[in-house]
Amino acid sequence: MSLLSIKHLTLTLEDHTILQSVSFDIAEGEVVGLIGPNGSGKTTLFNVLSGFLQPTSGTVTFRNTDITRTSPSKRAQLGIGRVFQNFGIFREMTLEENVLVALEALPREQRKQLGDLKKLTHDTLKMVGLEHSAKKKAGSLSGGQMRLLEIARTLKSGKELFLLDEPTAGVSPKMTSQVADLIGELKREGKTVIIIEHDLPFISRICDRVIVMDVGKIVLSGTPKEVKESKQLQELYFGEVFVDAH
Ligand SMILES: Nc1ncnc2c1ncn2[C@@H]1O[C@H](COP(=O)(O)OP(=O)(O)O)[C@@H](O)[C@H]1O
Ligand SMILES: [Mg+2]
Repeated sequence: MSLLSIKHLTLTLEDHTILQSVSFDIAEGEVVGLIGPNGSGKTTLFNVLSGFLQPTSGTVTFRNTDITRTSPSKRAQLGIGRVFQNFGIFREMTLEENVLVALEALPREQRKQLGDLKKLTHDTLKMVGLEHSAKKKAGSLSGGQMRLLEIARTLKSGKELFLLDEPTAGVSPKMTSQVADLIGELKREGKTVIIIEHDLPFISRICDRVIVMDVGKIVLSGTPKEVKESKQLQELYFGEVFVDAH
């Protein structure tokens, strides 16, 4: 059974078609990479999946429920977690407080399933190697550390589906491998992940399947090996560097 199913999602903004009939199914427990050149609509698709943008047509179904018109906060309650890039970190609060405040903000039912929040906070910081900085202000972290904290905080929030938009952008190689470990841990817990990334070796290492977008459409999908070896991918990226600041 698929956890997430999107059918013919189309988004037109100011006469400009940004998503064109995008359809795919994601099974529970899958880790799926979403790749494609800059401006191909990947982030926009995440905005539609998390409810920040309404599609012009098409449907989003999560656990057999149509959520196409459901608000972002309701979707979060249903178990869809979006990691924002350094967004939602309170710089004046300590790392510990930052994690705790996010956990305490969860709906009561989800919170109860998480057990002791203090312990979970400690475990979360440990997961990203920041447990010794628990009492430090988040503002003192480097950009990469802050991003790891944001990822860890979302990953421990009891969600079922995680939408990660370029989690390794601007992150050191060591931290990139920590992000890969975090995703591996999620997979072991049976969670489902869609990850936008430009780093193909990284994607190949962690993903079960890769979906490739170009100008708002899905142009290719398959195992990382199939996608990497496809002539179409090479044509798509010909001359383009796999880096993106967005
Ligand atoms: N709110 C918006 N209004 C108009 N155009 C937008 C908006 N958001 C994104 N776009 C356009 O949609 C296209 C896809 O952007 P985006 O989803 O950010 O691509 P990607 O994440 O794949 O780099 C781009 O051409 C971008 O300029
Ligand atoms: Mg983007």
